Parts: sequence; C-alpha cells; structure tokens
Amino acid sequence: MLKIEDLFVSYGHIMAVKGVDMEINEGEIVCLIGANGAGKTTIMQSISGLVPVRKGRIFFEGKNIAKEKSHKICSLGIAQVPEGRRIFSHLTVEDNLDLGAFTRKDSSQEIEKDKERFFAQFPRMKERQKQIAGTLSGGEQQMLAMGRAILSRPKLLILDEPSMGLSPLFVKEIFETIKRLNETGTTILLVEQNARTALKIADRCYVLETGKISLSGKSSELLNDPKIKEAYLGA
Ligand SMILES: Nc1ncnc2c1ncn2[C@@H]1O[C@H](COP(=O)(O)OP(=O)(O)O)[C@@H](O)[C@H]1O
Ligand SMILES: [Mg+2]
Repeated sequence: MLKIEDLFVSYGHIMAVKGVDMEINEGEIVCLIGANGAGKTTIMQSISGLVPVRKGRIFFEGKNIAKEKSHKICSLGIAQVPEGRRIFSHLTVEDNLDLGAFTRKDSSQEIEKDKERFFAQFPRMKERQKQIAGTLSGGEQQMLAMGRAILSRPKLLILDEPSMGLSPLFVKEIFETIKRLNETGTTILLVEQNARTALKIADRCYVLETGKISLSGKSSELLNDPKIKEAYLGA
C-alpha cells in the first residue's frame, strides 16, 4: 500500500531523515519506534505532504506522492493524527468531527453512520458533542483527534505518539481503538515511544536511529531481540 524509497528530509542544514526505506502492506499495523529526535515525526509529515521531501520516493497504491500537496494526499485516503493532537480547540466536538469528514464525497447518511459508530465506541464523546473541544481532558482530546481522522475514512491512518501524556486507562482505550480500526479494514502506521505497547499491537516494526532505519522485522521477533530489549524495552 505504501512504499518509501531512499527518503531524505532536511530542515535547512540539518538532515533529519537520511535514506529511509519502509513498506506497509494493506491491512497491517506497522510501528515506527525510536528515541526522541530520531526523525519519526518528520517521516510521518513527509508522507502527508506537510514537510517537503528532499530526495526519494513515496508510493501510495503505486503512485508517487512525494511531491503532492497535503490536501491531495489526504483525498487519496491518508489521514494523520499529529503529535500533540491539534484539534480545533475553539470548536465543538461535533464540529471537529464534521471537519474530518469534509473531504468525503459519499453521502451525508454514510458520514452520519460513521459518526454514530464513533459515538457508540466512545459514549463519552457523544455526551460531549456540543462541548468546546479545548475544554476536554487530554485523553478525550486524543480520542477526538482520532475520531476526526476516522471520519475521513482513510485507507491508511498515521498516528504520531497517540499515547503521549495519557493516563494508563486512556492508553488502553486508544490502543483498543487502533486494533478495532485495523480489524475493520484500516491500515495503520503507528509512531510510538512506548515501544513495548507498540510492539504488542503491531504486525511489524521499524527502528529509527538518527534518521536511519537500524532494524526492522516482525514485532514478535523484535520483542525478543536482545538489542531492542536493552535499548527500548528497559530490560
Ligand atoms: N521544524 C524544524 N526545524 C528544524 N529542525 C527540526 C524541525 N522539526 C524537527 N527538527 C529536527 O529534526 C530531527 C528529527 O525530529 P523529529 O522528526 O521531530 O523526531 P522524533 O519525532 O523522532 O522525535 C530533530 O533533530 C529535530 O530537532
Ligand atoms: Mg515526534
């Protein structure tokens, strides 16, 4: 579904991503782990067209999107929940969800159905439909950010550190949602610092070190890899 080849991204003189190759097959959950500053967010944003690709190719369903504008990439079926959530804090919960569905071309009934499905999964969000999003708790804002992305009905959903700063209860709920979304057909690219949780949920995993992939493989294998254990699992 997604194939990244020899990706380079820089900020001025700083080369943040240095020749990354990655692949995500339809139906998979793939995670990208790595220390702070490794370049995880930069890779996510280059897929979504939010930072310019310096060199390399990003194929989505066979089409090179490395030079496409972000709204075009979004309309192809790639949605991103950015680091730090970034909901529209002055709008209501419902308005935020409607904005997620903004680019959809199918009927409003279909959109309403997806909304109801989201509310069924998150009754807390239903109760707060009319609430100003900025007054939600951190965990609720993360759910809303995910809801907004889900409402765009993406083929590929990119999540940048969805568990960051959340209580264990919310983390559990967020990861259950990710799993459920995947089971209903959404392909997932997950960026996490919480490597253990990410490896448990993902099919495959890439490890990023200062802009380069240092290791990749099946999550079940990486969970038992001595290097991974030492560097990322605190064992
Ligand atoms: N807007 C920016 N301007 C300059 N440097 C940046 C910018 N965003 C990120 N960087 C640098 O790029 C590198 C990778 O950052 P980032 O992709 O955010 O890493 P991660 O998400 O893995 O923590 C870091 O060295 C960071 O300081
Ligand atoms: Mg980041």
